Amino acid sequence: MVSEEQRNSALTLNSQEFDFICRYVHERTGIVLGEGKREMVYRRFSRIIRDRGLASFSDYCRLLKANPEQEQTYFINAITTNLTSFFREQHHFDYLGQQELPALLAENGQKRLRIWSSACSTGEEPYSIAICLSEAMQGQLSRWDVKVLATDIDSNVLSKAQQGIYDRDKIADLPQEIKSKYFQKGTGSQTDKIRVAGSLSELITFKQLNLLHQWPMKGVFDVIFCRNVIIYFDKDTQQDLFARYYEYLKPGGLLMLGHSESLGEFQKYFDNIGRTIFRKPLAKGGEPLQAQAVS
Ligand SMILES: C[S@@+](CC[C@H](N)C(=O)[O-])C[C@H]1O[C@@H](n2cnc3c(N)ncnc32)[C@H](O)[C@@H]1O
Repeated sequence: MVSEEQRNSALTLNSQEFDFICRYVHERTGIVLGEGKREMVYRRFSRIIRDRGLASFSDYCRLLKANPEQEQTYFINAITTNLTSFFREQHHFDYLGQQELPALLAENGQKRLRIWSSACSTGEEPYSIAICLSEAMQGQLSRWDVKVLATDIDSNVLSKAQQGIYDRDKIADLPQEIKSKYFQKGTGSQTDKIRVAGSLSELITFKQLNLLHQWPMKGVFDVIFCRNVIIYFDKDTQQDLFARYYEYLKPGGLLMLGHSESLGEFQKYFDNIGRTIFRKPLAKGGEPLQAQAVS
């Protein structure tokens, strides 16, 4: 049992413990933590160590070694960076709503649309996609088979996303028309909160998925959002993921990356059609290009 005094004394993180935690995080999540992240590792893991009533980083490292699976959720939720917002990087949603969706609707083929928000964090990204869909499709939604898949590795952010309840200031910058159409104001003790409309939630399925693991989805997507997540991974992991995103896009489908992310060597398999917007080329001679992970 750890005394109050021990718990409150400053924890120390030595190089061995730091290296062990970095290796462990990389193996389990793909996230690369360098020396520059020492302060963050210290802060976030100190909280877990205290919450769990442990006395030191070495105790925590021992616990990680002894119960790797059991401890996984705690440390994954502690180490992920979940910054996001509604209509973050607005140009992606402008392109989706004004160009891509009208073109897909005009195709008038199978009346089926699939969009994947592959690191959805607390849900603002998939809800923004759902708003674009509702706006572009107006009264046609019920005649189409439309689904947004929203996945993330972090179980805490997923449950917040599923609730669809946010602080009111999160939507302060949205146009009034969008606010009144898609958000309900909280009442009583919840006046500083808003809730996303049920019509948006109905379009979205939230699931936990570690991008490093097998992807269980069967079909291909019209659009994939992979924004502000691969930046945390090393080059090999990024290239492996791009190969998989390519396979999971239908020919002509779109891949959206975050503002500071690029396809690297994989760029040659896509057409760059806008700021961090990439299109998988349509079949050449009837067959899509086959991309492989570039080693
Ligand atoms: C900075 S947020 C990006 C949210 C949103 N895509 C955006 O651009 O606003 C990064 C998200 O990636 C998730 N993430 C990190 N590693 C992951 C992994 N291996 N598999 C799935 N999601 C992961 C984190 O949990 C976090 O919610």
